[in-house]
Amino acid sequence: MTKAFTTGRTAAMAPAVEELADRHLDALEASGPGTDLIEALVAPLPLAVLCSLLGVPPEDATRFRDWVEVLFDISASTPQEKARRRLELIDYMADLIDRKRRRPQDDLLTSMIAAHEQGDLSMGELLTMGLTLLMAGYETVVGQLGLSVHALLHDPAAYGEVCGQPDRLAPTVEELLRLTPSTPISFPRVAVEPVPLGSVTVQAGEGVIVSLLHGNRDGRTFPEPGLLDPQGHDAAHLTFGHGVHRCLGAPLARLQLQIVLGRLTRRFPTLRTAAGPDAVVWKDGLGTRGLARLRVEW
Ligand code: HEM
Repeated sequence: MTKAFTTGRTAAMAPAVEELADRHLDALEASGPGTDLIEALVAPLPLAVLCSLLGVPPEDATRFRDWVEVLFDISASTPQEKARRRLELIDYMADLIDRKRRRPQDDLLTSMIAAHEQGDLSMGELLTMGLTLLMAGYETVVGQLGLSVHALLHDPAAYGEVCGQPDRLAPTVEELLRLTPSTPISFPRVAVEPVPLGSVTVQAGEGVIVSLLHGNRDGRTFPEPGLLDPQGHDAAHLTFGHGVHRCLGAPLARLQLQIVLGRLTRRFPTLRTAAGPDAVVWKDGLGTRGLARLRVEW
């Protein structure tokens, strides 16, 4: 899996991501001011990227999105509905693996099947890995893209800077990741030994969830932590986690953020949030932050 996500392999995906971004921006322009940016660009693009990475046929992308979104949606679906969709998704992945076994292609799922056939991965692990990638790489990027555009629209100076100076893009993306992360908390960890922390001691065996969002806004590390500093900071943020289980898809996430924000700001220099109280709707959710709607004008 790690081999599939090296910086080199990820950079090779740039032309495909650029093409996808342009296609969605054309559609945004055609649908005119007042369009919801989440529906027009922010949600479909990362899904298409994941489908192409894994080798899911484009005609299955919409069915895929329904399944994946329901897994994250804590408000709009019952536990029974979630369980049903999860089973449908597992059936679909099992069928896709079977098809790719018979007709191998140049994609990640085919490489993972090869690892399975060499005895490196069990069938259960293969299936779980496919699903994990979907869950880890979709909602997070959708959330981060929406939050980043939203933050930039609230800071016209930063928006203008990105739009006029492409070399400011990479540090601004890092600042947006720090300031408004789509992953506010870490995966849970379990302490293996007592750890004194401030006025408490976390005992061995106790669960720990780290607030990545608060770490990113620690004033001892980041001066003026609540402001977007276009110069960036020397210290690293925690949005992709830390340690051996640090986000595997971070280069792919950065690539999508830089391409989408670069092209959006260049093409729509006067972009702003649409008027009206319902232009921005925040998503409900436990593990990830994001917007359900962001209507824009230009
Ligand atoms: C802006 C987008 C993203 C954010 C903010 C994000 C954030 C995170 C975080 C916080 C973790 C947990 C790290 C830890 O517990 O220390 C993680 C793990 C992971 N992420 Fe991402 N992620 C993003 C995009 C992606 C993408 C695009 C993929 C792949 C297509 C991906 C694949 C993974 C995988 C496989 C893991 C588990 C790594 C492990 O357990 O060893 N992520 N991510």
